[in-house]
Amino acid sequence: MRIIIEPDYEALSKKAAQIVASKIKKKPNIVLGLATRGTPLGMYKELIRMGKENELDFSKITTFNLDEYWGLSPSHPQSYHYFMWDNLFSHININSERVNVPSGTAKNVKAYCKWYEQKIKEAKGIDLQILGIGRDGHIGFNEPGSSLSSKTRLKTLTVETVEDNARFFKNKDEVPKYAITMGVGTILEAKECIILVNGENKAEAAQKCIEGPVCSGCTSSALQLHSKVITILDEKASQNLKRKKYYQYSEKMASNLKKLS
Ligand code: PGA
Repeated sequence: MRIIIEPDYEALSKKAAQIVASKIKKKPNIVLGLATRGTPLGMYKELIRMGKENELDFSKITTFNLDEYWGLSPSHPQSYHYFMWDNLFSHININSERVNVPSGTAKNVKAYCKWYEQKIKEAKGIDLQILGIGRDGHIGFNEPGSSLSSKTRLKTLTVETVEDNARFFKNKDEVPKYAITMGVGTILEAKECIILVNGENKAEAAQKCIEGPVCSGCTSSALQLHSKVITILDEKASQNLKRKKYYQYSEKMASNLKKLS
């Protein structure tokens, strides 16, 4: 796993956007896996800026979102459909036919989840998956205890996740208790992944994800089994890392090597 430590959230967001932009430029019809909530917002803002300034063309990309609250319609202001259109898709030249966000209103959930997996396969898989992590180290809505080979399915959210999400809802009772999420196994099938982690409240989860044992108690730790992952942290989120000095040294050495070759 490559570890990049940036001074703050702004620098982290810019770094992530630069990496995503370079991948889009290399492969204009790239298939991106996208995440919602607070962490990727800064990166989305930067990508929007690049699109507006004609540095980046999104017209051929395909996207698959990680998850959606079950029970919320796409027009609900707290649904992830709404979030994605509000914070990214409406501001870039994306083709809406190539946008995929799990449905929060699917009737036959099992069949729907199977179909979502099939759709990813038909797109020849996800080239680059963007991930944030929860305070308990979850990815998507793969709560602690989720199978590390799980596929897209309905998950019951933990009390902690419901509490974390409550900040986005006016009324606590409105906060969804279930979500449809890509599985850990689905995420591991992506060709490359970028994990973004910022803030002191994620320092413990970041340490477990990067340096802890691979276990279902911290589903992001499964990414240690993936051969192409970049984790970008801000200084605060990196404060518990035991091998922090080595990660920084290793980044410096990699850039020295680039200059030499
Ligand atoms: P956040 O959520 O980006 O709002 O911190 C991350 C997550 O729970 O996966």
